[in-house]
Amino acid sequence: MVTGGAGYIGSVVSATLLAAGHEVTVLDDLSTGHRDAVPAAAHFAPTSITRAEPVLRDNGIEAVVHCAAKSLVAESVQSPQLYWDNNVGGSLALLEAMRAAGVRRIVFSSTAAVYGQAAEVPILESAAAAPSNPYGASKLAVDHMLTSYAVAYGFSAVSLRYFNVAGALLSPDVQLGERHATETHLIPIALQVVAGERPELAIYWTAYPTPDGTCVRDYIHVRDLAEAHLRALDWTGTAGAEHLVCNLGSGQGNSVREVLDAVQAVTGTAPAVREAPNRAGDPAVLIASNTRARAVLGWSPTRSLNEMVGDAWRFSRA
Ligand code: UFG
Repeated sequence: MVTGGAGYIGSVVSATLLAAGHEVTVLDDLSTGHRDAVPAAAHFAPTSITRAEPVLRDNGIEAVVHCAAKSLVAESVQSPQLYWDNNVGGSLALLEAMRAAGVRRIVFSSTAAVYGQAAEVPILESAAAAPSNPYGASKLAVDHMLTSYAVAYGFSAVSLRYFNVAGALLSPDVQLGERHATETHLIPIALQVVAGERPELAIYWTAYPTPDGTCVRDYIHVRDLAEAHLRALDWTGTAGAEHLVCNLGSGQGNSVREVLDAVQAVTGTAPAVREAPNRAGDPAVLIASNTRARAVLGWSPTRSLNEMVGDAWRFSRA
């Protein structure tokens, strides 16, 4: 069962699981997801993560990939109640439903936002977790929940800490990408500017202590990310009562200006930009160490920044 399987990452994970031969039930309340993003071959349960128990029982679910969440950093600062309720309360209800239904395998969408402003890059999973906003704090709370459920109730759990996810899944029968009502992410916004759907892109600060002064992030293709979920799911099938935490990133950083160069290379147009003050809470540099994901899951990312931007561009044009 994939929660949030009508959303950006959950839909690509669902399609990737189906392509690998898994049977998939998508649970999604469509609060931010899209019904047409649920792959046709998946069974669809249009409900909330707080009502998962009958879905688990009726569909003979063996394992859960839990992607459903609220995920806007700025919204989490303004309305933290939504994040404690949906992300923490909702996840607790889901884990309790799993316990009641005897399902003990889970792969959870965690985030680099749990680290806050990391003291050292690349960031290891052992780095201190000090989230700088309620979104990151809510995800960290669920990470802790999973550790305790592994110890007390024999859960086999993986927290995947995503860095900056980009790109799309484009195949003849399925096209899945970012379609957020509120778009805050760099690559889709830059592509909207190139397409004439926005006047310009604000570069949030150009005097960070980085080589070109703009923020550095670790971009990872959503298809590479989805493949890591398959590996993590397999891991829960062989591990005992254990909670594994793994970063998912490329291990390399790109600045905002480098991303904009990739947008120009792919589309042939340089997006119009304006230099703007920094966005509150943005760390200067976030780069993953992906050594653990490589060693334990046998996973390695293969797709470049240009492929992410190219796939996102083709998806937005389609
Ligand atoms: N940026 C701009 N202009 C924009 C949008 C973004 O300059 O219009 C910059 C940001 O300052 C940042 C970089 O582009 O340096 C990437 O920003 P995104 O909003 O695309 O991504 P974030 O790094 O802020 O966020 C990502 C995930 C979050 C997660 C966070 C962890 O999308 O879910 O990493 O820090 F919480």
